[in-house]
Amino acid sequence: MFHVPCSMKLLITGGAGFIGSNFIHHILKTYPDYEIINLDALTYAGNLENLKEFESEARYTFIKGDICNKELVAELVSKVDIVVHFAAESHVDRSILDSEAFVRTNVIGTHTLLEAARQAGNKRFHHVSTDEVFGSLGADEPPFSEITPYDPRSPYSASKAGSDHLVRAYFHTHGLPVTISNCSNNYGPYHFPEKLIPLIITNLIEAKKIPIYGDGMQVRDWLYVQDHCRAIDIIIHKGKIGETYCIGGNSEKPNLEIAKTILDLLHKDESMLEHVEDRKGHDKRYAINFAKIKNELGWEPQVTFEEGLLKTVTWFLENEAWWKSVKSGEYEKYYLKQYQK
Ligand code: NAD
Ligand code: DAU
Repeated sequence: MFHVPCSMKLLITGGAGFIGSNFIHHILKTYPDYEIINLDALTYAGNLENLKEFESEARYTFIKGDICNKELVAELVSKVDIVVHFAAESHVDRSILDSEAFVRTNVIGTHTLLEAARQAGNKRFHHVSTDEVFGSLGADEPPFSEITPYDPRSPYSASKAGSDHLVRAYFHTHGLPVTISNCSNNYGPYHFPEKLIPLIITNLIEAKKIPIYGDGMQVRDWLYVQDHCRAIDIIIHKGKIGETYCIGGNSEKPNLEIAKTILDLLHKDESMLEHVEDRKGHDKRYAINFAKIKNELGWEPQVTFEEGLLKTVTWFLENEAWWKSVKSGEYEKYYLKQYQK
């Protein structure tokens, strides 16, 4: 097991995105002595407004930069105890339209970080990955687990699978102290409103229709983002080096059911549903068996889907300025206002 220093310095990549920013909130609030460097390129998905309460915090440093920049990455990796790697191109639909950035960031960027971790004397490395690397399940198949063979089917999931293979290769070849987590669909605060749940909520508040791909019967296994952050926290502190942990929400739901539940929560009717053309190569079902992380590390989800969805809808109702600035594009000016005065 990795010896955890009592005060850790973490390099978080992609910390201005949805899960990365929730993880920074979690770490800074849970561990008063930990320090964070957040390396983020601020692509369209990065939003520093997610982290504005930490701007003047001495334990938190933001660096705008690309994980493919070898010199910058080497310098930052040499300063920390552990790399927790979230940065990625993450949206399946964008990978169908143009996959180049996915290969660059997800594969080459991960390789750049691994190489820097190796050259810095084998730094501890946690890689945040997805259940999509396992492919698509039929209705009666058992959920994905750590022994499910890889079968990625979109350019996004193929690029994440490539990054997972590189991480394992650095463990086996160079003895790099790595762990990997493959998680199911997250939802919660700061979720970028191109993804299903925040798109439904914000469209309905704006009295716009909800686009449902195909018949809407595709199934995802939803996990409240703070439960995912707790799982990563446990893995970086107690996880066994070289191991993979599957993380899931025990909450399989068809998309149409999610849409109807949110319609009810926001007192709207089904005339707001609009069936549109299906996603190309649309994966039918994802589900995760998280017995390994439960039995070995004592993690399981704490927030039920009903509680998590209510918290999320409430968060979006109370944080209209946040998502309106994202939808209008205004948020991209925040960095210029805060960091380049
Ligand atoms: P996101 O798209 O919200 O955020 C990605 C972040 O990475 C952004 O801040 C972006 O600016 C940054 N980034 C992109 N390219 C970069 C580059 N070249 N250099 C530096 N920074 C760069 O993503 P997310 O939903 O928060 O997902 C985070 C990670 O978790 C990803 O690796 C994703 O594959 C994985 N994951 C996501 C989910 C989910 O449901 N969202 C589930 C399982 C796993
Ligand atoms: O499973 C983990 C993955 O979950 C992560 O690795 C990805 O980064 C994350 O984006 C997410 O991928 P999905 O493709 O499952 O999420 P998305 O929110 O894009 O879509 C969820 C489901 O809803 C999917 O079946 C497609 C459908 N959908 C999506 C959108 C945006 C719609 O029907 N209409 C829509 O407008």
